Amino acid sequence: MNDQQLDDAARDHLWMHFTRLSAYRDAPVPVIVRGDGPYIYDSNGKRYLDGLAGLFVVQTGHGRHELADAAAKQASELAYFPLWSYAHPKAIELADRLADLTPGDLNRVFFTTGGSEAVESAWKLARSYFKRTGKPLKTKVLSRSIAYHGTSMGALSITGIPVLKQDFEPLVPGAFRVPNTNYYRRPDESMTPEQFGVWAADRIAEAIEFEGPDTVAAVYLEPVQNAGGCFPPPPGYFQRVREICDRYDVLLVSDEVICAFGRLGEYFGAKRYGYQPDIITVAKGLTSGYVPLGAMLASEKLAEPFLGGTNWFAHGITYGGHPVGSAVALANLDIFEREGLNEHVRRNSSLFRSYLERLYDLPIVGDVRGDGYFFGIELVKDKATKETFNDVESEALLRGFLSKALFDAGLYCRADDRGDPVIQLAPPLICDETQFAEIEQILRAVLTEAWTRL
Ligand SMILES: Cc1ncc(COP(=O)(O)O)c(C=O)c1O
Repeated sequence: MNDQQLDDAARDHLWMHFTRLSAYRDAPVPVIVRGDGPYIYDSNGKRYLDGLAGLFVVQTGHGRHELADAAAKQASELAYFPLWSYAHPKAIELADRLADLTPGDLNRVFFTTGGSEAVESAWKLARSYFKRTGKPLKTKVLSRSIAYHGTSMGALSITGIPVLKQDFEPLVPGAFRVPNTNYYRRPDESMTPEQFGVWAADRIAEAIEFEGPDTVAAVYLEPVQNAGGCFPPPPGYFQRVREICDRYDVLLVSDEVICAFGRLGEYFGAKRYGYQPDIITVAKGLTSGYVPLGAMLASEKLAEPFLGGTNWFAHGITYGGHPVGSAVALANLDIFEREGLNEHVRRNSSLFRSYLERLYDLPIVGDVRGDGYFFGIELVKDKATKETFNDVESEALLRGFLSKALFDAGLYCRADDRGDPVIQLAPPLICDETQFAEIEQILRAVLTEAWTRL
């Protein structure tokens, strides 16, 4: 197909995800054709910095022939076989390797094809585990407001963004929200980060009490909450949440679909913040996106009721642990080790932050927050009062101007208003000062213009 045919066919047949299709009625659909390291190229040959690693996915960067070769080799050797009562070498090797990397005894690896399935698998495991251990009423789950945990009906129930849910109600019953950890918008300005951490963790204890401890199975938390704009945990938050979970016999699910595999400079976000989950859910960066793969990593305790007699976990997915995905994930982990990508992120994270913090001299930049290679910039109308934009302004600012202007200026990133308006950056982990400077320079020009338009 030539460019015009691609554009026409995209408009007529391709149902793009989370997309206002009307936006392309009179405008061309951006078609990305190639990637190389931290850069992507559109069908006109124009280069963009991939400031979001695709969708928090392409950790090792674009154009890695080694990963393509691993996929081709595996597909020609054994393209497919299920993990339903059978196994294949790459899934076994990958499970073994992941078990070595996880914190504590999260030694049991249940593969999926993506993040929503991993999140949903964890809820099914939590329910099933408690049914088999004499606490059948424990079925409910908690998560933070504005947190995104996926779109399948179970995962969507856990997602805390009302506008994504309302078209599909009623959802799976039994999912409840607690406040998120937005220190910038803490309930009381005088709170220290430590006090805020105690406050936020205690809202989880309160919700468990409100629902009845005998009915709550799990709490889902991302190490750094993505939606709303990269909220890192306040100091002590996860340690206190762990205590609360132990007190009430509630499982702690660390949803690391974004935060694992180097995004925070460790293989797992739980390691970055020194807490021990009962389950970790992963996807995205596990293969750097070269093929789809996800997983639920569960503790020995949770696997135990399924190990004997006629017991089983009555759950499975045709493509979970696909041989090609498993082979690519192993090759991807080889790159992490060989190139020291986690160390690279740890070494460069504060430099990345410092480039973004230079933007504080702009009147529209209210807060720069995040960790590792995962940052959000909250935009405000008034820095002194932290006044945010109303819906109409936010619509005009983000959708009417920023997203397109940033892209036109050569930076692919996210301008989001699922909470307060934020710009999010999560580039490939191979990025260094060259890309940080490029990001700062493009943001500065575009945000300056955005302010003059307001
Ligand atoms: C924290 C988190 N959980 C779950 C998901 C869902 O993953 P998927 O889109 O692969 O189903 C996402 C996707 O962005 C996510 O960020």
